[in-house]
Amino acid sequence: MADASVMEQIVSLCKRRGFIYPASEIYGGLNGFWDYGPLGCLLKNNIRDWWWHEMVLCPPLGPDGHPIEMVGLDSAIIQNPKTWVASGHATGFADPMVDDKETKRRMRADHVWVRELAGIDGKRIFVALPVTNFAEAETAFDYWLANGRPPKELQLKLSMSARRYSPPAYNYQDRPLAYTNISEADRLCVHWPEAEALGTLTEPRQFNLMLTTEIGAVDPVKAYLRPETAQGIFLDFKNIIDTTRVKVPFGVAQVGKSFRNEVTPRNFIFRSREFEQMEMEWFCHPDEALKWYEFWKARRMEWWRSLGVAEGNLRLRDHTKEELSHYSKMTVDIEYKYPFTTPDFGELEGIAHRGSFDLTQHQEHSGQKLDYFDQELQLKLKEQGVSPEDIKAKSRYIPNVIEPASGLTRAVLVLLCEAFTPDEARPSKMFLKFKPQFAPIKVGVFPLVNKDGMPEIAEKLYLDLRTQFTAEYDAKQSIGKRYARMDEIGTPFCLTIDGQTIQDRTVTVRDRDAMTQVRVGLDQVKGYLGERL
Ligand code: GAP
Repeated sequence: MADASVMEQIVSLCKRRGFIYPASEIYGGLNGFWDYGPLGCLLKNNIRDWWWHEMVLCPPLGPDGHPIEMVGLDSAIIQNPKTWVASGHATGFADPMVDDKETKRRMRADHVWVRELAGIDGKRIFVALPVTNFAEAETAFDYWLANGRPPKELQLKLSMSARRYSPPAYNYQDRPLAYTNISEADRLCVHWPEAEALGTLTEPRQFNLMLTTEIGAVDPVKAYLRPETAQGIFLDFKNIIDTTRVKVPFGVAQVGKSFRNEVTPRNFIFRSREFEQMEMEWFCHPDEALKWYEFWKARRMEWWRSLGVAEGNLRLRDHTKEELSHYSKMTVDIEYKYPFTTPDFGELEGIAHRGSFDLTQHQEHSGQKLDYFDQELQLKLKEQGVSPEDIKAKSRYIPNVIEPASGLTRAVLVLLCEAFTPDEARPSKMFLKFKPQFAPIKVGVFPLVNKDGMPEIAEKLYLDLRTQFTAEYDAKQSIGKRYARMDEIGTPFCLTIDGQTIQDRTVTVRDRDAMTQVRVGLDQVKGYLGERL
């Protein structure tokens, strides 16, 4: 089952040290919305900048060893509402939802599993398990059997007291079933653990995930907050072709906010209603789509490893036919072993083969031509002696799209989970072992005491270092407490100016991971850090 204690510690650390706060907390918060505090936005920006660097400024070499073409975009969050009709989101972007009539709890129906009990007084009974997949349902049910109460994680999700529920005899042959897959009659026999009565869950019904707003003061028009950044890229496909020198194959990358009215936002920032995505649409010839799909699968895995994510915590998982989004021909997810999914994995990025779905839809709905004339292909076909009719037919086409779509805010969660390292030997009992490149603060600068010329030297050093590294000056509390705080926020190096500095112009450099200290000359500190950061 999930390691709830690790998650609880991470959530509490994020609040205590200024990484992530519940949004509008002074008004009691708002479910599914989070604020990124001073350290959280530094961490998020570091990940965003690395993605932008590796995708737009310095993208990987193509399969032939030559540079590929990639440009960036920052499109509007609110687009003409027709966009979402054409893209299929107005009708197809929905989750099945279910309500418990007694407790008024609302959940995603595909996140409720049931398992049949042998029955009480001859009556059929299914026990409901609010978990996301079959494996979790099995584990949760086994726990229930052994303990007579739901596992701790379910109690947390349900805000239940650890109410004992003595199970009757079980029918061990039965497997957990998805609530969406059982009959209407069986749904009347489902016991929701928080409810007194039987059959209190409603029939599943489709719930559109797009958040709406209104535009204009007179006769306001209903509009949508984008549920994915991708559509802005498709809408600007023609503009980009007409105003830049890119030629198919090429990519357009974008980072920005997306919004989804998630039925059950949960697991901290994993599933929120406002989040950030890093998406790239790769436009290619339909015959080459599979080649590029494999190319981006491999490159994106490499990118996640470059963040310092351990190999064993990442995996690729192909979508089943039933899972595919309405636009997708095939999709593979890059998954991470989160503390709340362990030993299972959860989604981090999806790489989808969107075919020509989006451009075709927007061409039909807008009446604007969104096909591409491939001059290079035309010349090649001419050289091959292909007939003029075939050349004409083949060199104008609607490109296919391969889309690596990842969550920036989910990446923040992954780096926090990956960096969280318990260590009983430290006063802080843990430290965040970020790869230095992503640490929000790279170096802390401390005068040992606030006298004897130490603050003056420390401040001068800090002012010099901060031109190159994100640095923090701290003169409060004991030196041990200052180190402990820096360990908690994952600062790789701390510099202390002490009595010896006055005599020999050296400072101590403390290494976060090894907790060792070396003395380095004041005038060499910048170079020393530069080599290691
Ligand atoms: N354009 C394709 C698309 O949006 P997706 O799989 O729905 O695909 C891509 O989303 C990524 O965005 C996910 O892999 C996840 O990292 C992130 N994401 C999606 N919904 C999210 C949510 N509610 N909260 C946080 N991140 C989310």
